Amino acid sequence: MDINTKLTDSSMWKKLQEHYKEAKTWHLRDLFKDQDRFDSFSVKFDDFLLDFSKNIINSETMGLLFALAEFRGLQAKTKAMFSGEKINSTENRSVLHTALRNQTDNSIEVDGVDVMEKIRPVLDKMEFFSNSIRNGDWKGATGRKIETIVNIGIGGSDLGPKMVYEGLKHYVDGPQVLFVSNVDGTDISQLLKVVDIESTVFLVASKTFTTQETMTNAHTARNKVIDRLGEDAIKRHFVAMSTNLKEVKAFGIDAKNMFEFWDFVGGRYSTWSAIGLSLTCALGMDRFKEFLQGGYEMDVHFQTEPLEKNLPVIMALLGLWYNNFFNAETHAVLPYDQYLWRFPAHLQQLDMESNGKSVGVDNKKVGLQTGPIIWGEPGTNGQHAFYQLIHQGTKLIPADFIGFKQSLNLIGDHHVKLMANYFAQTKALAFGLGYDEVTAKLTATGFSGDAVQDLAPHKVFDGNRPTNSLLIDELTPKSLGKLLALYEHKIFVQGVIWGINSFDQWGVELGKSLAKVILPELVTGKISEHDSSTKNLIKHFLT
Ligand code: F6P
Repeated sequence: MDINTKLTDSSMWKKLQEHYKEAKTWHLRDLFKDQDRFDSFSVKFDDFLLDFSKNIINSETMGLLFALAEFRGLQAKTKAMFSGEKINSTENRSVLHTALRNQTDNSIEVDGVDVMEKIRPVLDKMEFFSNSIRNGDWKGATGRKIETIVNIGIGGSDLGPKMVYEGLKHYVDGPQVLFVSNVDGTDISQLLKVVDIESTVFLVASKTFTTQETMTNAHTARNKVIDRLGEDAIKRHFVAMSTNLKEVKAFGIDAKNMFEFWDFVGGRYSTWSAIGLSLTCALGMDRFKEFLQGGYEMDVHFQTEPLEKNLPVIMALLGLWYNNFFNAETHAVLPYDQYLWRFPAHLQQLDMESNGKSVGVDNKKVGLQTGPIIWGEPGTNGQHAFYQLIHQGTKLIPADFIGFKQSLNLIGDHHVKLMANYFAQTKALAFGLGYDEVTAKLTATGFSGDAVQDLAPHKVFDGNRPTNSLLIDELTPKSLGKLLALYEHKIFVQGVIWGINSFDQWGVELGKSLAKVILPELVTGKISEHDSSTKNLIKHFLT
């Protein structure tokens, strides 16, 4: 029997299906008649509070979901990941981004080699390099201090460090970091207009060092540096973060200016690795280490807390509840903090590249719904854009609201206004506004007769829209590390239950290889065989 038939045929799954028939008739208004609901469905972990009481669940639901996680061997699979087993089966790789933030002296072996012995020297090298950038020892070819770091990368080599840089901008006390990712020449052209080459170092961030977009941008930047400062300047203005020494050298970057990571670190999980070099330059090594510490603390929490108190497990199971039983297709992530404006974008890659799979670890079609569509924007901006649909649309959109008790920019009453909205939204989504209340309000404001009848249905809020509220003390390097690791493990737990490999990404390959075929056609004008749509589009482009 294949792995997911085993799941959907299991008594656990069937019990959940039966339970869902009941749960779909519940309303949060009724569930909240239980005065202890918040105590039953909230968990505190240090500076993190997760309130998941505004979900369409009761204790039986959670019990069934926890049993499902156990049935799928979550504990053993978690152990397998942390201990370096090659759980990325289609690439025969270990999955050890967790080793990058390991704060113990324990060894973690892959093929008989302790990966910690590889990781620690790179951290030291990052520290040395970023200190020399920050204190001015590292000079550009003309002797200038470095004021700007440009990270050239895409996907995990861009989104993660960019999200963290934006997230921790309050703490930046080193050079500014600019990011270039798109192969669209506009991206690098705009950048080259504003940077002063003499005081800029380009970090070429690419696990493979073959990614078309990154290498194209890197070569354009390289030409610019050579034009301005000559070939010798490359070693003062280019640094690489990669797993591919051969290609780094071929590009002309000195091997000693390469910061290594390894194939046991997935691209979208690589912010914790040398890919975070822009962060160590901007924030300093101590703050980067605090970020790693935060990730580590979430790792310990995830590995040791019982399922009932385990934040990543709870969030994963709730996501699965809506995804597989309520048929929710999307999941919104809504940070009420402007610094986290790139968090949803990073999570899109993290979650959708990890769990956007339809074949299981047994190499068979999964036959059930896997990863949701992840999307979001910071609050309160989203409230004035797409919240209408979350409140009154026809789709069920579970959402995570992420807020902070302390503001990093306490000006007037901004923070209390922000947080009033944070609390108001989840309340409105859960409880809505009933017809009787709407008509009473309309009547009180002078409407009567048909006007009340016509308008009232539009003003009704059905409520019963599920949300998680994550309320964190303060946005710090450590709490951001915890938050990111929380979502990484949430995604892992869901992948385990769905029986998929969350750590490969074959779905990105076909488009890449077709682009390689089409590119010479655009250059030479000789179009090969294509379907009529593609052929005519290319023809139209060329004329
Ligand atoms: O195309 C997808 C992908 O392989 C991502 O998984 C990865 O983060 C990104 O491209 C960039 O890859 P690299 O770091 O090798 O340039």
